[in-house]
Amino acid sequence: MNFEEHLNKVKEKCECCQKCPLSKTRTNVVFSDGVPNNKLVLIGEAPGYYEDKEGLPFVGRAGQLLDKILNSVGLSRKKDIYIMNTIKCRPPENRDPEPSEKEACREFLDAQLDILRPKIILLCGNVALKSMLNLPYGITKARGNWFEGPYGSKMMPIYHPSYLLRNDSREKGSPKWQMWQDIKEIKRVYEEIK
Ligand code: URA
Repeated sequence: MNFEEHLNKVKEKCECCQKCPLSKTRTNVVFSDGVPNNKLVLIGEAPGYYEDKEGLPFVGRAGQLLDKILNSVGLSRKKDIYIMNTIKCRPPENRDPEPSEKEACREFLDAQLDILRPKIILLCGNVALKSMLNLPYGITKARGNWFEGPYGSKMMPIYHPSYLLRNDSREKGSPKWQMWQDIKEIKRVYEEIK
């Protein structure tokens, strides 16, 4: 079986999941988008309003900004990156996922990573950061640094695009400027990977 076939089996199971109360309020399970590959994966937080409606991650305003950031270094979700979330169903009013919801959903995240074993994992925002790394500090300090991840991967925490939408400055040292440094570094390491 190839990546796609393995992932489809997990997706089928995920689409029937009723392990947490979010299964009652979801319109769609949001499993993934992009290309299954063993180089580059991004883990976001949770589906929002538009993601829940469409069944795809990062399709709202934050997603459009994410696409722009990727495109700025020649990466695209159509050919280079597999995108998923920490949890697969939308929390009401876009609140942060509860620990019990993250725990219930963990098997799907772990299965996706186990199938792909990607060389680079981007942890997009605090929720993804906290679910993959046990650090005594948050995204502001962690972003832009490489950490050891599962299966010998390199993980980099990056700002969530929703945060960048709320912080518009592009001045040196601003979150958008930092994101630009981070995406260039990610592209550099991506190019080195065979
Ligand atoms: N924010 C996320 O973290 N994931 C999405 O899919 C959409 C917005």
